[in-house]
Amino acid sequence: MEQDIREVLFSEEYLAEVVQEMGRKISEDYKGKNLLLVSVLKGSVVFMADLMRAITIPCSIDFMSVSSYGSGTKTSGVVRILKDLDVELSGKDLLLVEDILDSGMTLSYIREMLQQRNPSSIRLCTLFDKPERRTADIQADYSGLQVPDEFIVGYGLDYDEKYRNLPYVGILKPEVYSK
Ligand code: IMP
Ligand code: MG
Repeated sequence: MEQDIREVLFSEEYLAEVVQEMGRKISEDYKGKNLLLVSVLKGSVVFMADLMRAITIPCSIDFMSVSSYGSGTKTSGVVRILKDLDVELSGKDLLLVEDILDSGMTLSYIREMLQQRNPSSIRLCTLFDKPERRTADIQADYSGLQVPDEFIVGYGLDYDEKYRNLPYVGILKPEVYSK
């Protein structure tokens, strides 16, 4: 895996600090609320696992799975629900947890759909943000790190389902995906 990485963008230690701070902020903002963290599989599982442990107030979690990318590196704009939530949303303060906000098409679609189930509130939390690539009208309420318009992998993020288990985030060598 290591030999496919052109450059390490964020170390494991640095990511831990950023996630810790996001958890602290969320804990403060959601005091007394009915916080439900919803992770969009699979990219956000690593972030979710660390973020929930950085949150110091009671919360529940759930997962949903959609497909938007296939094996390419550009979004298709088509979002398909592969796994829906298990819990009802009424009375919940929903926080959508995403790995990366790119075009925003995926999250925009998911937010719209979940809004119709009448949660008490709905906000977005993303670890990485690529604002240059945004096409949908959407912003994160909590955003960890801005990243350049390059394809990154690791800490949950994949290329063709690989590299998710790298503990740091790196930029992939272009020859890996032009193969
Ligand atoms: P969007 O709908 O374009 O915002 O796409 C969001 C999804 O695309 C993320 O949840 C990731 O799965 C994937 N994605 C976008 N950029 C990257 C990247 O640089 N590396 C890995 N996956 C990415
Ligand atoms: Mg992906």
